[in-house]
Amino acid sequence: MNEAVSLQHVSFTYNKTAVLKDVCLTIAKGEFLGIIGPNGGGKTTLLKLIMGLLEAQEGTIVLEEGMKIGYVPQRLPFDRHFPMSVLELVLGGLLSEAPWFGGYGRKNKNRALHALEHVDLLNEAHAHCGSLSGGQLQRALIARAIVSHPHLLLLDEPTANIDHQAEEHLWELLNQFKGKMAIGMVTHDLDAAVNRVDRIVCVHRTVYPLPREEVCKHFALGLYHKEPLNQ
Ligand SMILES: Nc1ncnc2c1ncn2[C@@H]1O[C@H](COP(=O)(O)OP(=O)(O)OP(=O)(O)O)[C@@H](O)[C@H]1O
Ligand SMILES: [Mg+2]
Repeated sequence: MNEAVSLQHVSFTYNKTAVLKDVCLTIAKGEFLGIIGPNGGGKTTLLKLIMGLLEAQEGTIVLEEGMKIGYVPQRLPFDRHFPMSVLELVLGGLLSEAPWFGGYGRKNKNRALHALEHVDLLNEAHAHCGSLSGGQLQRALIARAIVSHPHLLLLDEPTANIDHQAEEHLWELLNQFKGKMAIGMVTHDLDAAVNRVDRIVCVHRTVYPLPREEVCKHFALGLYHKEPLNQ
């Protein structure tokens, strides 16, 4: 199987609100997919379906066997002022691998430190999470998502609320992961995304492909089409 993930005719409804309908999407192994779309279009819902946090009412979602997924959520999964070190935050990404009798062990701590080194935050390992800048915190969350060596990394708007320099740093980091794992990244920053990802899809009730030219022409101002352009 060349696909990391394959969704076929997936539909999802929250209570009575239909959010996604007849979604067909594959992400190939090692592919970097950019995911764009209007607010409320269903991007976060799509990521949650892939991760199995939500269950589709219709269709099938098949993941590569034994696939591990790393996730950088759209909103902080904890209170920023909770007394937790950056190292502890990253160790949270290894919870499922921690021994049942407690403690993470030296091996896992070394893995977490290595992940922090990868995102250029080793010097902040023992700092309090609340003391990090927005860009640093975002990189710490990426370290948390990659510490288990996932095959698929899903990021939900990681460049929102960070300054331009931090954003560039983040793109450089993602560029290093390119080809080593599949990446699905939700972003509103189309200008930056368009030349750096392998392929772009738009999520608006369903998922449809977007050729690069059309992204520049129609979407840079946030003008999302209601219908796929190719219909
Ligand atoms: N837990 C929930 N219960 C009911 N409706 C929900 C829930 N979560 C999201 N929705 C609705 O589902 C739709 C899609 O939401 P989703 O968060 O997937 O959109 P999004 O594309 O990620 O938007 P944004 O760009 O604002 O993050 C929206 O109309 C939203 O109000
Ligand atoms: Mg969202």
